[in-house]
Amino acid sequence: MAYETILYAKDGAVATVTINRPKVLNALNPKVVAELGQAFAEVAADDEVKVAILTGAGGKAFVAGADIAAMSVMNPVEARNFSRQLQEVTSFMEALGKPIICAVDGFALGGGTEMALACDFIYASEASKFGQPEINLGVIPGAGGTQRLSRLVGKNWAKELCLTGDIIDVALAKEIGLVNRVFTSEELMPAALKTAKKIASKGRVSTKACKDLINFGFDVPLDHALRMEADAFGICFASPDQKEGMTAFLEKRKAEFKGSK
Ligand code: HXC
Repeated sequence: MAYETILYAKDGAVATVTINRPKVLNALNPKVVAELGQAFAEVAADDEVKVAILTGAGGKAFVAGADIAAMSVMNPVEARNFSRQLQEVTSFMEALGKPIICAVDGFALGGGTEMALACDFIYASEASKFGQPEINLGVIPGAGGTQRLSRLVGKNWAKELCLTGDIIDVALAKEIGLVNRVFTSEELMPAALKTAKKIASKGRVSTKACKDLINFGFDVPLDHALRMEADAFGICFASPDQKEGMTAFLEKRKAEFKGSK
């Protein structure tokens, strides 16, 4: 599919989605958000693709937030609809049965941090900065920031970031658990690709089950979530990849997963 505001590339089983508006630090307007929805629908539909990487072009920002020029002229209904549009795309990414690694090189602010939070984990460069500065514009995070951020880093840090609008460096972002790993700018994409390829080499059924259970088991009572886990554990045994994984171990060789559905 042809896109105007993003780049879509495939390297074997890994798709890389790059937000490409570097002149405005990859700010998210309704067009970008719509194209991100289409790109992740493409990831979902393409059987060759098992893992995606989301990143931003230009080396200065992943995403410096939703487009303030576009938002400045929205009425309340349009603003609410824009918030829902972003929430629907981020929820689609979260529910997508294929992992998404976010590679942040530079600013991830407002909707940028929120977009990163909808990915499965974040790798960042040393120059990266994170924050929810919406309060400085007289508004609040509207793409899941008040919800996903608090679930990931705890209510206390989410409140400090959302209430002060402070921008934090990557060291603090890592300390509070927002970022998994930090690299130089040059090392970032190779590291994300290496991890993506490692995940792509595992079984498809077990990969999807892990992502789904961690995402959707988190907010339900533990005894229900454990039953969900047991059911998914059982379902893995219907997959040829379970036979291959266990047989390979017993035969003292490396498993070769075929990625059966
Ligand atoms: C529109 C933006 C933008 C944004 C940067 N630009 N961020 N345009 N929306 N979010 C544009 C600038 O206007 C400028 O355009 C160009 O990108 C380069 O940015 P500068 O400000 O000149 O760069 P610098 O001085 O290095 O400062 C970088 C920055 C700053 C600290 C990241 O740009 C900044 O504070 N941006 C806004 C961050 C923010 O408030 N994000 C939250 C948005 S609200 P020109 O034409 O002058 O070159 C949000 C809500 C999400 O995200 C929920 C929605 C439902």
